[in-house]
Amino acid sequence: MPSPSLVQAVRLISPMEVILNDFKSQWAEIETEALAAIQRVGQSGWIVLGKEVSRFETSLAALMGARHAIGCANGLDALEISLRILGIGRGEKVLTTPLSAFATTLAIQKIGAVPCFVDVDSCGLIDLDKVDRVLEQESDIKAMVPVHLYGHALDLSRLEKIKNKFKIKIIEDCAQAIGAMSGSRSVGTVGDMAALSFYPTKNLGALGDGGAILTSTAQYATLARSLRDYGQTAKYVHEHLGYNSRLDELHAAILNDALLPRLEGATVKREKIAHLYINGITNPAIKVIAKPPHSTSVWHLFPVLVNGPRASFQAHMKEKLIQTGIHYPFLITNQKALTNHSKFEVFGTLEAAQQFAEHEVSLPIHPYMLDAEISRVIQACNSWRF
Ligand SMILES: Cc1ncc(COP(=O)(O)O)c(C=O)c1O
Repeated sequence: MPSPSLVQAVRLISPMEVILNDFKSQWAEIETEALAAIQRVGQSGWIVLGKEVSRFETSLAALMGARHAIGCANGLDALEISLRILGIGRGEKVLTTPLSAFATTLAIQKIGAVPCFVDVDSCGLIDLDKVDRVLEQESDIKAMVPVHLYGHALDLSRLEKIKNKFKIKIIEDCAQAIGAMSGSRSVGTVGDMAALSFYPTKNLGALGDGGAILTSTAQYATLARSLRDYGQTAKYVHEHLGYNSRLDELHAAILNDALLPRLEGATVKREKIAHLYINGITNPAIKVIAKPPHSTSVWHLFPVLVNGPRASFQAHMKEKLIQTGIHYPFLITNQKALTNHSKFEVFGTLEAAQQFAEHEVSLPIHPYMLDAEISRVIQACNSWRF
């Protein structure tokens, strides 16, 4: 481990709360590059859609193995713009997961399409066997938004087979899994388009909101560049009903200079913590969720399923000064923003997803965790009784 930052050193001397995200240590690590990037943008006199965004888009496309990356304002817009580009229209059915950030479904609702839900597998990701069966029967489903949840990659060769067999459009939601691989392929390369989020808690989190679209189709990339910028095709020439969804120069510069170069190192640390949790948590009442076998995961989150009263487990962790989260306490199909505003369909039961909604707890897993903090989390998990 490298020498601890000042923030970490204070934690070493007097153990404090083990937090879910350590933005202060992140700042201590990136400060020099981030300030230099800010200064460069300020001095350049060019604030919006300039060289910094282009530079970051080039780096991001290279990292993700995509031909084109298009920066935009956030992950929700990246999903919505991608659905628009693929021509998914009002009333069209789009298959997705009930266990995700609400934004995944919100993007489908916002274009007037009908979200259709299938259950998840034992890792919490959309169940591709069930997807296959649903698509066999429902020939009017034209698109799918699968989510690489918790930092795990869905099986991309399976996804590709589904795409080819049913000729459906796929937008991969990679918000939680930037850099994750399925076998030798990177997430975001099988779908027609992919959406990324740089929301601060994400594994490539910026110092504010940000997002990106990936595609390997030049025509889609051109349309995405237009749609993110009021639908302009040239200055003051508006051909499409667009959005104001630009990634700004400041965030692009910080992402490119300070955050992207650290992603691999951060993933190695997350992997190490995941490995220690997997081997160290032995309490039979806590089920560590395995990663999918083909996935080289980036461990955006570390979910466990608690076989007992979840509130008691969370209270126990809190007493031991350990923060925990829940991803997600409610299925999307139970959210009023869906049920009160949109038509939607559910294929089969959502039993497995419901298990996650009722029993999932996320343990701290961030690159600035100290070894002593990792041990505290493991000990606290193992000492819980109910
Ligand atoms: C799976 C998933 N999709 C989409 C989003 C939306 O991203 P953003 O918050 O940047 O709009 C998020 C982030 O919350 C997410 O976790």
